[in-house]
Amino acid sequence: MFDHVADRYDRVNDVLSLGQDRLWRRAVLGAVAPRPGERILDLAAGTGTSSEPLRAAGAWVAACDLSLGMLRKGRRHRGWLPFVAGDALRLPFADASFDAVTISFGLRNVHDPAAALAEMRRVTRPGGRLVVCEFSLPVWAPLRTVYLRYLARAIPAIARRVASNPQAYVYLGESIPAWPDQRGLAAELARAGWAGVEWRNLSGGIVALHRGIRPPHPGQAPPR
Ligand SMILES: C[S@@+](CC[C@H](N)C(=O)[O-])C[C@H]1O[C@@H](n2cnc3c(N)ncnc32)[C@H](O)[C@@H]1O
Repeated sequence: MFDHVADRYDRVNDVLSLGQDRLWRRAVLGAVAPRPGERILDLAAGTGTSSEPLRAAGAWVAACDLSLGMLRKGRRHRGWLPFVAGDALRLPFADASFDAVTISFGLRNVHDPAAALAEMRRVTRPGGRLVVCEFSLPVWAPLRTVYLRYLARAIPAIARRVASNPQAYVYLGESIPAWPDQRGLAAELARAGWAGVEWRNLSGGIVALHRGIRPPHPGQAPPR
């Protein structure tokens, strides 16, 4: 599906999110808090839009994605990023090879999110961090009602005008209401072995940022 949205991907995001996506990406950067020289995995990185700010902060960032179409487009526009073809369910990286792993608007698209969360844990070093940025549910009921209508009716109509594969955006409108809410996703992270799980709502809960830490090995001091 993503092979066919690659061409206009960034522009369509800007339009459909009414420009909010830029705020969400800044919040991801703040949550990952990359330090120069750190090794970070941006999983489901697509064309590298989510990887770019992490790299600009001085970290070494692997931009990994399953879709060759997205990776090709990323390489054309962001040739300085190391793009890696890989499946979230079987990552082509050694155990404990990253200081932090992040995934923006990707976990909902993976067939088995629980298995992906466990695989992300495997490649994160003990004490390393996870940041998941994903659509969620607005917490204020009136906003939730308007938003769910926007997803069901407006998104497919707008996508027909601006997207290269409008069907992919029909899927977006259907998959968000079916996705676990903030509390449900936090429970999934904890079940996959992430510690200190917490979340923060963005744009009233339209998007949520979940964070977790890979527990240190027994006997090792917890991260500060
Ligand atoms: C909505 S895009 C997000 C791209 C980017 N992270 C961003 O924030 O703009 C979702 C991405 O998830 C990728 N994806 C879906 N399933 C995947 C999997 N099993 N492994 C790796 N990437 C996957 C898709 O190819 C697509 O590029």
